[in-house]
Amino acid sequence: MEQLSDDLNRIISNQQNLLETIPAMVLLIKENESVEYMNPSAKSFLGDLCKLPESITPEERTTISKFQELVTKTIQNNRVGETLETTYRESHLEYTLSSFEGYKGDSLYWLFMRDLTESKKQLAEISLFHNSIETILSHKINELKESEKTRQKLAKELNSLKEHLKEQSAECKMVGSSRALSELRDMVFQVAKSDATILITGESGTGKELVANLLRESSNRTNKPFLKINCNTISDSLLESDLFGHEKGSFTGADSKRMGKFEVVDGGTIFLDEIGDISPRMQAALLRVLQDGEIIRVGGNSPVKIDVRVIAATNRDLASMVQEGTFRLDLFYRLNIINISIPPLRERKEDLIDLTTHFIRKYRQAFKKDINFLPQSILERLIEHDWPGNVRELENVIQRAVLMAKNNIITENELFFDLQPGNKEHSAQKNYLQKLDGHTLKDIVADVEKDVITHVLEKNRGNVAHTVQQLDIGKTALYDKMRRYDISPKDHK
Ligand SMILES: Nc1ncnc2c1ncn2[C@@H]1O[C@H](COP(=O)(O)OP(=O)(O)OP(=O)(O)O)[C@@H](O)[C@H]1O
Ligand SMILES: [Mg+2]
Repeated sequence: MEQLSDDLNRIISNQQNLLETIPAMVLLIKENESVEYMNPSAKSFLGDLCKLPESITPEERTTISKFQELVTKTIQNNRVGETLETTYRESHLEYTLSSFEGYKGDSLYWLFMRDLTESKKQLAEISLFHNSIETILSHKINELKESEKTRQKLAKELNSLKEHLKEQSAECKMVGSSRALSELRDMVFQVAKSDATILITGESGTGKELVANLLRESSNRTNKPFLKINCNTISDSLLESDLFGHEKGSFTGADSKRMGKFEVVDGGTIFLDEIGDISPRMQAALLRVLQDGEIIRVGGNSPVKIDVRVIAATNRDLASMVQEGTFRLDLFYRLNIINISIPPLRERKEDLIDLTTHFIRKYRQAFKKDINFLPQSILERLIEHDWPGNVRELENVIQRAVLMAKNNIITENELFFDLQPGNKEHSAQKNYLQKLDGHTLKDIVADVEKDVITHVLEKNRGNVAHTVQQLDIGKTALYDKMRRYDISPKDHK
């Protein structure tokens, strides 16, 4: 019996200890009556409610009623044993009700409670934090999307501006507004982006190299190497090893293996100028490049793959050369996939004014001259001229004129047309040969003399002393001739 009572006491004291130490609030409530027990946690949160009825304050009474009500409601709702939530003043409480049979058979309830206020607050803060992060993120994502859209739009605008600028810069570089030149410019832009081989044809000085430069600038290989080779300036064997490289010992002096320009320029563009001048052997090698995209080094036999875009130019008539048998037909076909043919300047004289203005501007700046006037008579002379040397000749004429001009104006005195190779004699011959019929030698010589004296006097603005010096004749002789040919220095001042 004593043993039993000891055991009971031990159990009660253990239970007591447990109740006293757990952080949760524990209340033992008698339904509709009183609070029988509160552990320290409960007391510190709610105040001591287990007092004699007469010492309970009104405030404590309200609290007791609140929990009595909670108990009744939970029982009525049949939720004993469940974890539920309620609020007390400003606090969020989690509670569980569990029944307890009293010593006197009365029914009591354990009310276990935990204050969730802090953790709820933390949860709310966390969720607020999440929400604001989400808002910020979604803002940022929208901003990024917007800026991506703007970026794409700007990139598009930039590209079109670049294209526009390229076209404009092409217009600046390739001056002229004739229909032929506008069509030519359009064609350059159309074909530049493809990797197709291009053959540029046109008389000397028409702008073949200029077109080759524009093609490369507007192609997809702008940032890759660009190599220009003038096929007629290098000897054939040198050209072959220069272009295709050589194996060690392939010829005297080839003491080491060397990569050719086609290999070095791999990925880029090669401009073969004067292509009409290459030998049959070179023609065969070039055909291999264009046909199979490979080269064989001089003295070697294994082909090397290369990726080079070829632009070729010539002022020779390759089709006639094919007919004569000096140019391979198959190579001609391979080169002539796209032909850009530049018309001679005499066939597009509408470009003369633009070109003249362009060159005056260019050389005015270069020579620091202030040329600002070009008389109509000069323009007429330029239009009359046949321009056998094409744009290059015009450039030379204007360059000389700007350099020599006095008083900011170009006059006839500064206008000298190029003497084209083979053309000097030709045009001189033509003039005087035309006059041969029915004229004596004396007449013809007199005619020449008159022309020469007039021309030089004009150049020297009627200054006889300078003319004497330049023509290296005596003053009396010059006066004699001027009298004979009815030339007056005053007319040339
Ligand atoms: N349309 C043009 N606008 C401005 N300059 C031009 C134009 N055409 C040619 N030129 C200029 O004329 C000169 C000769 O042009 P380019 O060297 O390209 O001619 P080409 O056809 O290659 O001559 P060649 O057959 O003698 O080698 C260059 O200074 C070039 O810049
Ligand atoms: Mg050229």
